[in-house]
This record gives sequence, structure tokens and C-alpha cells, in this order.
Amino acid sequence: MVETQQCRKIFISLLVFCIFYSINVLTVEAKTHYHVWDVKYTYKFPDCYKKLAITINGESPGPTIYAQQGDTVVVRLTNTMLTENVAVHWHGIRQYGTPWHDGTDGVTQCAIMPGETLDYKFVVDRAGTYLYHAHYGMQISAGLYGFIIVKLPDGVSEPFAYDHDHTILLKDWYHGSTYEEAVGLSSIPFKWVGEPQSLLINGRGRFNCSAADTASGVCNATNSDCSPYSLTVVPGKTYRLRIASLTSLSALSFEIEGHNMTVVEADGSFVEPFVTKNLYINSGETYSVIVKADQDSKRNYWITTNVVGRKPSTPTGLGIFNYYPNYHYKYPTTEPTTGPFWNDTASKLAQSRAIKAHHDYVTAPPPTSDRVIVLLNTQNLVNGIYRWSLNNISLSLPLTPFLVSLKHNFTDTFDQNPPPDTYDVENYDIYSIAENKNATSSNPIYSIDFNTTVDIILQNANTMSNATSETHPWHLHGHDFWILGYGDGKFNITKDAKSYNLANPIMRNTVPLYPYGWTALRFRADNPGVWLFHCHIESHFYMGMGVVFEAGIDKVGTLPKSIMGCGKTKHMINP
Ligand code: C2O
Ligand code: CU
Repeated sequence: MVETQQCRKIFISLLVFCIFYSINVLTVEAKTHYHVWDVKYTYKFPDCYKKLAITINGESPGPTIYAQQGDTVVVRLTNTMLTENVAVHWHGIRQYGTPWHDGTDGVTQCAIMPGETLDYKFVVDRAGTYLYHAHYGMQISAGLYGFIIVKLPDGVSEPFAYDHDHTILLKDWYHGSTYEEAVGLSSIPFKWVGEPQSLLINGRGRFNCSAADTASGVCNATNSDCSPYSLTVVPGKTYRLRIASLTSLSALSFEIEGHNMTVVEADGSFVEPFVTKNLYINSGETYSVIVKADQDSKRNYWITTNVVGRKPSTPTGLGIFNYYPNYHYKYPTTEPTTGPFWNDTASKLAQSRAIKAHHDYVTAPPPTSDRVIVLLNTQNLVNGIYRWSLNNISLSLPLTPFLVSLKHNFTDTFDQNPPPDTYDVENYDIYSIAENKNATSSNPIYSIDFNTTVDIILQNANTMSNATSETHPWHLHGHDFWILGYGDGKFNITKDAKSYNLANPIMRNTVPLYPYGWTALRFRADNPGVWLFHCHIESHFYMGMGVVFEAGIDKVGTLPKSIMGCGKTKHMINP
């Protein structure tokens, strides 16, 4: 009797201790990270060529945001550009409960006007490698981009080991102004942005300055902005490299001379490890790879990145894999690789297919879906302007953000006719030059029943040029999706749905659609809000390559006034 009472006492005090302890852990551990950002134009020489870049506190790429799972991030963003709006998207962060801080101009907020300040505030609910970038006009091209790194909770570790953790951000770089690019894309005659002048690794590249440009000061090979990226490694140590791409156009291949990489993470999900010599990476994708510094340490090695998927005319992007204690700027004497064949789609497809969920971290998808939306990706002329369309509709963002319109039942701010769930599968020839006589430019939305499961089939086709089909990296805001499969040619629902990988599909937020092929993905519409789904090639999105999903709008809380001020929301700030 006495013993049981004592036992009970001990048990109760243990319980009390545990409760106290866990409250303590929660309150002590969940931190809030405050950042103050000044966004403005600054002259930069990222590849030695002078360019007006959009910088954050003077930097491009901007500062990396570090946090731990469950933490809150607050970014107080002041737009100090003189004549240009801005909005910043937190790419891969799902924004549960804060859909108004997704940072998407025209979808979830009004852009921040010159002189104005907006506090973005959101919880990073899951560890992994994420990004941020401008989501207004073509400002990614101007250099507004960076990393968000979310660490696991204390005491929890990844299913792989490493000694050091580094970030590598890849970018294609244009010398022309983004205004000229944007105007060219929406003009008659059409002017395409063309291939980039340089590839940047962590914001650094090298353009071959002409004598005239050097003389005029437009190109300066000795500017410290363009000293190469050098990663110093200690012989015998193991490195986790978080590699991400925020290119405006280019699909890339990345490799480290003489070293294999083991892929272990994709868009925040653990990958069943596989070894590769080169990593294919599209705009909007993030990876972690494990690299061992186990080669001859008397020399340095090239870090290279090359354009794939389009016929390249951009020189290889170069960095240095520097073995300590060699001089970190000592170039290897070997020739840098020019990468795999640019049009080797088969090997890219093989790598995409190799990316499966880690066997200990499989989240099984729902076995069936409630709705299937097939999106035909085509190039079109709309009123003589080149556009990209989905099921013949090219997205034009409304003046009033969708989120505000839907929450406040505005019906005159966007197209009220629901867009089609499919295209003319029977009769449309995906191999012939796109005619798309009925294409329109508009802004309807897909309303998804809350908490239902949706399959999206991305269907590629020929563009308006003969025998051409492009790669499109598709990115979904607010969710991860399961990648169920990739295939060649026209998707056939009765046949191809049988080949879906329901056993161990990876969950990601970005997925490529390959030339003349299809990609199938599944997601649960469990995040109340309005979410963009679009091609991550900046000029393609600018040309209308996106759709908008709404789910559970009735569950969205009161919208903050700070996201308003444009279109029909003007009167909502000062009623
Ligand atoms: Cu990283 Cu809507 O994009
Ligand atoms: Cu695209």
C-alpha cells in the first residue's frame, strides 16, 4: 500500500516534470528569427560585367535565412527601389495558416510599392532546403533570390552523416535589363530573351570581357564580385552540399570533377540514396548531395555547371573544389567538363525516375484521387502576342489578388468561368506545330473541394516551332505533391495510370515536364488558400504559363491589411 502510494507520487512528479519540461522545450526552442531587408538596385559585377541588380541589404544572392523546424520567420521588407514594386515568395514553405504571406503578386497580395514596408511572417514547419525569390515581373532575373535552410529539431538527425554543410545556389545571368526582356516578350514583333550570358555559382561567374568593355569599365575582370566560388574541403571529410537552382530559363547539369555525389534530399524530402556523376537541376528545385573529399588532395578540382535541355551558347559556369591547404584560388590544370549532351533527355528522365522517397520516410499517397486535371502545355498567339497556355488559357494576373477577391466574394475582379479539366485528347496532335486557334488570355481559377485528392497530368506538346518541345519545371505553392510517374507521348489514363508509383513516390514542390512527354502528380488540397501552380521558367510564367487553385477559402482567417492597396482592395485599407 505504502509502496504503491510512493510509486504514484513518483509517477505524478515525473509526469509533472515531463509536462513542464516539454512546455519548456516548446517555449524555449521555437524561436522567432527577425530579418530586416532593404531591397534596392545596386550596380554589381557578378560575372565581371556591370549590371543593375536587385539586392537585399546590398547583396545578390541575398542572405541565407537559417531556422529550425517549428520556428517563426519574420522578414521586414522595405522596398527602396525608386520606381518598381516588389513581392517575395518563400519557395517550398507551405504557409499553413498564413496563405496571405506566400508572397505572390496578384494571387496572395498586392505588390509592395516603392517606399513601403511589409512584414512577412510565417512558420517553417518542416526541415529541409528551401528558397526565396521575387514573385513580381521578372525580378528573379535581376538577382532577387536566396536560400532558406531549415534544420531538424534538436536530437533528430538525417538518415545520412556528414561533417560539414554548405549551400550552392545556381543562376543563369543576363546582361540586358529585365525591363527590356519583359517588353520584348510582350511586343509585336516578339523578342525572345535568348540564352544567358553567364552561369553563376553562389552569385559568381566569369564573362570574357572584350577590350572595349574593359576600357569603358563596363566589364572589370578584377572586380571582387566575380572572383570564383571556391569551396575549401579537408581531406577525408564528408560534405553535405545543398544545391539549388533559381535560373530564369536554363536547365542545368552540375558536377564536381573526379568526385561522385550521393543524392539524399530533394525539395525537403529524404531521397533513397543514389550515386551520380552529374546532377540535373531545374529552376525551383533543391537537392542535398553527399560528397567525400577522398581524392588526391595535392590538387584542386573544377566545380562545373552547364546548360542542358536547350542548345547551349553559354560558357560553362566554373567554381573551385579546393583541397586544404592548397591555395583556394588555384585553378585546376585540367580542362573543365562541358557536361552531358544538352539534348540527352533519356538520361535526365532516368535521373528523375531514380528520385524515390527514402525507405524509412515514405509517406504513402492516397490510393485514388477524387479529381483528375489534365493540363495541355502549349505555345500560342493571343492577339498576335506569343503566350504559353494550359488547355488554351494563358494566365493573366488580375489587378485584385485572387485571395482577397475570393475571401470577400468579389465576382467582377477575375474570370468567373471555371477553366477546363482537360483538353481535346482525342483530336489534338501533340507532335504537330501548335495552332491553338481558340487560345485566350484570362484569369479563371480551379476551385478544389477542401481535403480532396487531386491528380494533375501535365501534358507536353510541340511548340509553335517545327519539331520543338521544351522542358518545363512545374512548381506548386502551398503543398508538396507525390510524383506518380513520367512518360513519353500522349498520356492515356486507362493504360498509364496503371504504371503509377504508389509505393514510394517522392514528395516535392517542383517537377520537370519533359519534351513530348507527360508527368503525373497527386496532392491533397489540405491547405486553405489560393495557390499558384506554374512553370518556374520566369519568362514562361510571364507569358502566362500557370494556373491557380483555390481550396478551403472559408477556412482562411482575416486577411491582414498589409497585403492590400491595389485594384479593388484600395478602399479596404482606409474604409
Ligand atoms: Cu519559386 Cu511561384 O515560385
Ligand atoms: Cu516553361
